[in-house]
Amino acid sequence: MDKLVIQGGTRLEGTITASGSKNSSLPIIAATLLTGKSPFQLHRIPDLKDIATFRSLLHHLGAESTFADGILEISTQKVQSARAPYELVKKMRASIYVLGPLLARFGHAEVSLPGGCAFGPRPIDLHLMAMERLGATITIKTGFIEATTNGKRLRGGQIDFPVSSVGATGNALMAAALAEGTTTITNAAAEPEIEALCHFLVAMGSPITGIGTTTLAIEGQPTLQPVAFNNVFDRIEAGTLLAAAAITGGSITLNDTEPEQMQAVLEAFSQAGCTVSTNGNSISLESPRTLQPVNITAEPYPAFPTDMQAQWMALMTQAKGTSLITDHIYHERFNHIPELNRLGAHIDITSNQAIVHGPQHLSGTKVMSTDLRASASLVLAGLVAEGTTEVLRVYHLDRGYERIEEKLCRLGARIERQKYDEFS
Ligand code: UD1
Repeated sequence: MDKLVIQGGTRLEGTITASGSKNSSLPIIAATLLTGKSPFQLHRIPDLKDIATFRSLLHHLGAESTFADGILEISTQKVQSARAPYELVKKMRASIYVLGPLLARFGHAEVSLPGGCAFGPRPIDLHLMAMERLGATITIKTGFIEATTNGKRLRGGQIDFPVSSVGATGNALMAAALAEGTTTITNAAAEPEIEALCHFLVAMGSPITGIGTTTLAIEGQPTLQPVAFNNVFDRIEAGTLLAAAAITGGSITLNDTEPEQMQAVLEAFSQAGCTVSTNGNSISLESPRTLQPVNITAEPYPAFPTDMQAQWMALMTQAKGTSLITDHIYHERFNHIPELNRLGAHIDITSNQAIVHGPQHLSGTKVMSTDLRASASLVLAGLVAEGTTEVLRVYHLDRGYERIEEKLCRLGARIERQKYDEFS
């Protein structure tokens, strides 16, 4: 297994380019299943473990793809199977994204139930409700979702989500893109990754109105076309890199971003005392002498993202005063707290709220995490901790960050990737 060995205490400085977004790549790749025509050419796809896992799933279904220099060429012409097995789905919950497109294209789909995850239960009831609204019949049997259109084409309908769900909105859009007639989705997720999926579906030939809002209307088509498409930047990677600069007292510029998609996070950095400026697609951040505590609440876009909550908590361990961090999306997403405390942080927890008492002097040790963003928070803490921090089980980080240690090292961090034997 790999670990990151971090020597803390260097100030990060420099300019770096943001990678393509993981969370938009996944539904966009899934949407290539909507047509047998090929090939698609997807640009700015990040080289990540999750992308490799998703490609394996599509290959299992019969797709063919090549991936080099951020360009994924994919052909789903030979896809015949509509069954996504447990062995592949269990590796990544986002595999559920194949449900909508397979069902819409083949009239049936079988997808293994994804199960829970490290930060609590992750239901899929809204995905299933959306498919049913479009005319599908769903049964759960032997650990699989079995969905069928009963020999008919899906038909457009009204889907009113009781809570905002990124994944269910994506699945609903993909299924509706091949349905007969128009589908209206209310309380749709408005995250930039869903906006990117909408633009992709529009390019494939399915008109959508309301893009970027919580009410979407999509006009289904009998067939869709393969296209070339440019993916959007990864706003969570960008936020993590800005936090790395801020926690080390540094100053960085990030290129190839879209600052308007990061308003809540940039606002929080400003409130913490950072000087944040934007220039076209670039964001610059300069740290203050003393970081100020800032309370954040993770909620659906455009509010502060839950995927930045753990990194923000690491930053707040260095702020002068107490900050409250609340997660309204995943109430149990606090695995990073005990590990941050092992590094010397003082964080208390009450139900879905963390109370961070800063500033605390952190000192390096071995830490381990159970999910992607928690790992990122430990890397951030390691950058400011005195001495050596070893972040174990880096495979979590590799799921969602493209060579992050190389990027951080280019900014002046001292991080080495080393192999280790977990059982020795
Ligand atoms: C996506 C992101 C993930 C991010 C999350 C919230 C991807 C691949 N993953 O996950 O990184 O943390 O959005 O921004 O894009 N819910 C239900 N029933 C459902 C589906 C969801 O109750 O059928 C609930 C969830 O438990 C959660 C909330 O809705 O409380 C939001 O989850 P959702 O937006 O669906 O997250 P994902 O799409 O799985």
